Amino acid sequence: MVIEKICCLGAGYVGGPTCSVIAWKCPDIKVTVCDKSIERINQWNSDKLPIYEPGLDEVVKECRGKNLFFSTDIANSIQEADLIFISVNTPTKTIGNGKGRAADLKYIEGAARMIADLATSNKIVVEKSTVPVKAAEIIMKILRANTKPGVEYQILSNPEFLAEGTAIVDLVESERVLIGGEDTPEGQKAVQALCWVYEHWIPAKNILTTNTWSSELSKLAANAFLAQRISSINSLSAVCEATGADVSEVARAVGRDSRIGPKFLEASIGFGGSCFQKDILNLIYLSECLNLPEVAAYWQQVVSFNDYQKNRFTRKVIESLFNTVSDKKIAILGFSFKKNTGDTRESPAICVSKTLLDEGAKLHIYDPKVETDQIYYELTHPQVTNEPEVARKNIEIHSSAYSAVTGAHAIVLCTEWDEFKELDFKKIYNVMMKPAYIFDGRKILDHEALINIGFHVQTIGKRL
Ligand code: NAD
Ligand code: UGA
Repeated sequence: MVIEKICCLGAGYVGGPTCSVIAWKCPDIKVTVCDKSIERINQWNSDKLPIYEPGLDEVVKECRGKNLFFSTDIANSIQEADLIFISVNTPTKTIGNGKGRAADLKYIEGAARMIADLATSNKIVVEKSTVPVKAAEIIMKILRANTKPGVEYQILSNPEFLAEGTAIVDLVESERVLIGGEDTPEGQKAVQALCWVYEHWIPAKNILTTNTWSSELSKLAANAFLAQRISSINSLSAVCEATGADVSEVARAVGRDSRIGPKFLEASIGFGGSCFQKDILNLIYLSECLNLPEVAAYWQQVVSFNDYQKNRFTRKVIESLFNTVSDKKIAILGFSFKKNTGDTRESPAICVSKTLLDEGAKLHIYDPKVETDQIYYELTHPQVTNEPEVARKNIEIHSSAYSAVTGAHAIVLCTEWDEFKELDFKKIYNVMMKPAYIFDGRKILDHEALINIGFHVQTIGKRL
C-alpha cells in the first residue's frame, strides 16, 4: 500500500509541527493539514505561525505550497488522502460523567464522523492524539457504522512523543516512533504503510510496532512516568530545604545510576503543560473504571503533589515578604510553562500569579514569547476569577524584564528562559524597592552573586 497523500485533522501544537516535518522529509508525499478554525489556518499560511517552536519557521517556509498545505477544505483533503492523522485536542472533561478526570473525546468523535461522512475510498485512520486505552474502538465503531459501500478503514495508534520547545529536533531525531495496529493481515499492511512513511528518515530500529491497546497505553504511561520523576524530585526538594541538602546535588548523585539516568530530574515550581496532568488524570479515570482504585490512588499522588509544590513555592514568596503582598509590586519573569514555547496551558506561572493576585499584589509580567492577550486571558477568565476587572487592573504586561522589575519589591522567576540568566542584576537591584527579593523557581540564577549584590534570594531545593 503506497501513501501518496496525507491529511491531518487538527493544526495545533502536534498536527502542525509533525506534518511539517513529514512533508519536509517525504517530498514524494502531499501533506495537507486541516483545522476547523479558519483563523488558525490563516496563521499557518502567514509569516507569523500560530505557535512558536525553534526551527519550525524554516521547515514550513521550505515546504509550504510545494508538498505542504494548510487548509480549511476538510472535505477535499479527506477525500483525496490515503492516510488521515487525527491530531485534535483531547482535553479533560469539564462537565458530566468523569468531569475533571476523563478525557473529553468529543473532538475525536467529531473527527471520526467527519471522515465517515466524507470518505469515498479506503483510508488508514491514525490516532495521533493522546487518548484513553480502547479509543480506537470508538473510532472504528463510528467509521464502520457509517461506512459507504466499498469503503474500508484501518485504524492505527501512533501517539506523539514530541515536547514543546524541542519539537522539531524531537521529530527529526525521534528515539522511537510507536505504531499500534490490529493483528490481521489488513491491519499489519496498514502498519507497514505508516512505517514506510517514517522510514523516510527514522531508522527502522527506532520504529516499534505493538498491538493497538499497548500503543495507546504506552503514551499515557510515558507521560505518567515523566511526570512522576518530576514529582519525586520535587518532593525531595522540600526535604532539601528543610535539611540543608541541595536538590541539584542529590539529582546529580541519583541520576548517575544508569538504571535511573540523569534526565528529567530538575526540581521546579511544578510541572505544567497541556498534557502531563490531563494524561495522568485520564489514566486515573481509566483505572477507576477498571475497578483498580489502588492504581488510581498511586497516580493521583503525582498530580496532587504537583499542586502542593506550586502552592508551597507561592506560600514561600508571601511569607518572605512579611506575610503580605497587598499592593506590592511583584515582577513575574516568565509565563510560559517552559522555555522556548509561547504555550501557557497549565503553566505553573498561572497558579503563582493567581494566588498573588488574590492576596492583593500588583503583578508586572514579562515573557519573551507569550502574547499579552494570552496572559490576560489566563488570569481573568471565569474559571480563574469572579472579578476579572479587578484582576485586570492589577496586571501590567511588559516588553522587557528591565521595565517589569523597576520599582518591584520582588522578582518571581517562573520560567527558565535563557535570557534571564544574562540579565544585569546589579542594574536591576538599583531600580528595585529594598529589601529586594528574588524567588528563583527554576534554579537557573547565580545565587551567590545575587546575594553578594544585596538581594534576598530563595530557590527550590536549597537553603540559601
Ligand atoms: P491543540 O489544541 O493545539 O490543537 C488541536 C486542533 O484541533 C485545534 O486547532 C482544533 O481547532 C482542531 N480540531 C478539533 N476538532 C477538529 C476537527 N474535527 N477537524 C479539524 N480540526 C479540529 O492541541 P495539541 O496540543 O496539538 O494536542 C493534540 C493532541 O496531541 C492531544 O491529544 C494532546 O494530548 C496530544 N499531544 C500533544 C503534545 C503537545 O506537545 N502539545 C505532545 C504529544 C501529544
Ligand atoms: C511532555 C513530554 O515530555 C513529551 O514527551 C510528550 O509528548 C508531551 O508532554 C505531551 O504528551 O504533550 P511537554 O509538556 O511539551 O512534553 O514538555 P516537558 O519538557 O515534558 O515539560 C513539561 C513540564 O515539566 C514543564 O513545565 C517543565 O518545566 C517541567 N519539568 C520538566 C520539570 O519541572 N523538571 C524537569 O526535569 C523536566
